Amino acid sequence: MENTQKETRRVFGNLLAETGRIAAGAQDNSGKLQSICDLLRKSVPYYDWVGFYMADAVTKTLRLGPFSGAPTQHTRIAFGQGICGQAAERKETFVVRDVSRESNYLSCGIHVKSEIVVPVMREGEVVAELDIDSHTCDAFTDPDRVFLEKVAGIVSCLFRAG
Ligand code: SME
Repeated sequence: MENTQKETRRVFGNLLAETGRIAAGAQDNSGKLQSICDLLRKSVPYYDWVGFYMADAVTKTLRLGPFSGAPTQHTRIAFGQGICGQAAERKETFVVRDVSRESNYLSCGIHVKSEIVVPVMREGEVVAELDIDSHTCDAFTDPDRVFLEKVAGIVSCLFRAG
């Protein structure tokens, strides 16, 4: 058990370092976000869909940005709608252990069993969201939340404040 935790810490630590390198690199911002999605999806076996939604504070909508995984029909989401929209409204991370038990949920396919949505904040406003779907039930634990909130902190500099 302890070894598993150590290994998780090691993997997440390496991914944070790599995320930082990508964020500071030479690609344009969209390319950087795409590389980070690809990196997370290929490195963590239960991260089956990884994507960013861009927030528009004026129209209160989320627009799909770079993602890695199957195409989704949810390219625009109003604040308050689905898990993403609720996280944008509440400005807090949502961890959904079992999506089948959620009433305010936008399905991206029958294989998705659990989801985490982490707001990316700048100057107290949600500028984007990091959304991850898993085909495993109850996939996201506290170490995932802590790790992904750090990823959100690293990438926040890639978005314009309100
Ligand atoms: N399930 C999300 C919609 C986005 S997809 O997961 C890519 C939601 O309920 O907001």
